[in-house]
Amino acid sequence: MTSSSFSAPIIAPSILAADFTRLGEEVKSVANAEWIHVDIMDGHFVPNLSFGPDITKAVDGITDQTLDVHLMIQEPAQWVDTYAKAGADCIIFHVEAVEDEAAALALAAKIRELGVRAGFSIKPNTPIEPWLDKLSHFDLALVMSVEPGFGGQKFMPEMLDKVRKLRSAIDEQGLDTLIEIDGGISADTIAQSAEAGCDAFVAGSAIFKQADRAAEVENLRTLATV
Ligand code: DX5
Ligand code: ZN
Repeated sequence: MTSSSFSAPIIAPSILAADFTRLGEEVKSVANAEWIHVDIMDGHFVPNLSFGPDITKAVDGITDQTLDVHLMIQEPAQWVDTYAKAGADCIIFHVEAVEDEAAALALAAKIRELGVRAGFSIKPNTPIEPWLDKLSHFDLALVMSVEPGFGGQKFMPEMLDKVRKLRSAIDEQGLDTLIEIDGGISADTIAQSAEAGCDAFVAGSAIFKQADRAAEVENLRTLATV
């Protein structure tokens, strides 16, 4: 857990792409990244399983980096206490996994009460418009640029329209809600995402497939500096 404030660009390596047999070393290999992105999948909200609170807690125990926990699970409200205790600094839930907009705002408030930054995420087919007047309730807006569930998929550039709409709304309303993008981010796609207005960039395979991860984090950060 960390309490530092953030300034863009924020690079968030996703440990979904790490070698799980050497997870501690893998996290240390990206020690120069601002955040560590932790993808939680339940095999129901998405057709894949990853890991849960125990792995999250273990990662929290070996780094002071901000833990950015992305819940791709049903019933996220039942789990936020657990992930806050496990060391999450940001908890992001999917709006498709909650009943309605009121439930989303209530869950964001609950996450903030736990002393954790609250984020919402939207899948590629979910419109952003209903959320543009609710951004003050959130510290983070995570735009999925692939269908959630798996690493290593192709970036969907049309998702940058959502980023532009978020950027305008956040700036017009004078908010400091961060815009994060997740899925297919690499040296080929990060600059256009930064130009569209993203502050934080999740990258899994693009970083962990490299021999020198720290150099790739640095490379991505440079390309995202607009
Ligand atoms: C996908 C996850 C992503 C994933 C990104 O459901 O939310 O965070 O790890 O992987 P890459 O960067 O390989 O697309
Ligand atoms: Zn993710």
